[in-house]
Amino acid sequence: MGGSAVNGSYGGVSRRLFVTGMFSTLAGAGTGLGAGAAPAVAAAGRPERGGVVLRARPTTIRLGHRTVTTWAYDDAMPGRTIRATAGEVVRARLVNELPATTTVHWHGIRIAAAMDGAPGFSQRATPPGGTFDYVFTVPDPGTYFYHSHVGMQSDRGLYGPLIVADPHEPLSYDQEYTVVLDDWVDGVNGDADAALKRVNTTPHDESLTSHVLGGTSGHVRYPYYLVNGNTADDPTTFVGRPGARVRFRVINAAADTAFRVALGGHRMTVTHTDGFPCRPVTVDTFLIGMGERYDFLVTLDSGAFPLMALAEGKRGRAFAVVRTSRRAVTPPPDVKVPELHRRMLRYQDLQARRADRLDAPSRTVTVKLGFRERPGGNQWTLNDRLADDPLRLRVDRGETLRIVLHNDTHMWHPMHLHGHTFQVETTGRKGPRKDTVNVMPYKKLNIDVLADNPGEWMFHCHNLYHQELGMMGVLGYGKPPRRGHGMGH
Ligand code: C2O
Ligand code: CU
Repeated sequence: MGGSAVNGSYGGVSRRLFVTGMFSTLAGAGTGLGAGAAPAVAAAGRPERGGVVLRARPTTIRLGHRTVTTWAYDDAMPGRTIRATAGEVVRARLVNELPATTTVHWHGIRIAAAMDGAPGFSQRATPPGGTFDYVFTVPDPGTYFYHSHVGMQSDRGLYGPLIVADPHEPLSYDQEYTVVLDDWVDGVNGDADAALKRVNTTPHDESLTSHVLGGTSGHVRYPYYLVNGNTADDPTTFVGRPGARVRFRVINAAADTAFRVALGGHRMTVTHTDGFPCRPVTVDTFLIGMGERYDFLVTLDSGAFPLMALAEGKRGRAFAVVRTSRRAVTPPPDVKVPELHRRMLRYQDLQARRADRLDAPSRTVTVKLGFRERPGGNQWTLNDRLADDPLRLRVDRGETLRIVLHNDTHMWHPMHLHGHTFQVETTGRKGPRKDTVNVMPYKKLNIDVLADNPGEWMFHCHNLYHQELGMMGVLGYGKPPRRGHGMGH
């Protein structure tokens, strides 16, 4: 079951390994909601009455060789791994001990609207001192995550993995590792809100734009890039045995950074994106945008291998070590990983399983959606609208909505739709089912959304700066609600 993400060297029995192991046992014996990532988890939040408690609060965390102040769930960053099986009900009580309102969004889950954690859409944000009980069914297996959906909060430590097991898991593997990628500034160079102000008031950082052929993946050069909360200097170590078949579940929880991921010395067989299975495809590397997830299988060789996630278009990397031998020398964080420059996964390599394909079964309505940057400032628009008077897409239940996404900017935009998954059209094929799709600079891409989950839903860029600087739209059902964003109560 749960991957053993061990911090520190292989030789000493680290405290993290011990606590993780202990808590996994507790969780396994409990309700199926489990956890295990960081020491604080075991102390603060075991499953209670069939659920979890997420305490959002200011805390200090260790980052490499320094300690920083941030906001996190239960003093752990990432927050605990929540585990459930498809079809089960997840109960999570948010306890807000922050000096600000907050919510929890369950990214990628086809959830009932009232539980979506979208402030102003599906709930009022929970005030300081308040609690909110999230109770929802997880209909689909796969790799998901949860995060605060208020302002820049998820750029702090307010995020964690949500893993939904398949009761009829078709893949066979011996072990799994959850790999959460992040870009980190909080407590190092101001906080996330200060970074937003800088992006909003200063022109582009030329060093980030000039040398990238594929346009610009982000705005900010972060001081750290993290795997499971650990810096490249003090990396997370995943321990396995040679010959083991391992499932990696990679989640990009970063605000502003796409990553190029490879495992030194191995090819990877990609099996899922955004929770949904696809025809397995073997590649050397893949790009993962903010909010996207990829699962891949690898048969581990003997040694110690770099798991590298280059911050695409930036200088910097998230780095972890996969170790199957005690004696192997730990690779340094700047080790060359030739796989990063070999065969890269493309969306057209990915094809949804037949059972998951949307073959345009219903009336199809087509809308165009253009992304633009307002001249002179840092405002980002959807069909020339900003979030205060947002773009509104209306559908009727049962329709298929084809959205033609047209990126008329030099930046990447990983677009995320709440409450639904869509099918990405790739050249001449039914592509993957996803909930977050990266639209590259000056490119067009079609997605088909089956409107089967009534509500008022956010549809936005998962670059947190773009989300905050305008790229937030609404997908709604039927006639527009009378006012506001459709909060009926
Ligand atoms: Cu991962 Cu609207 O969010
Ligand atoms: Cu964007």
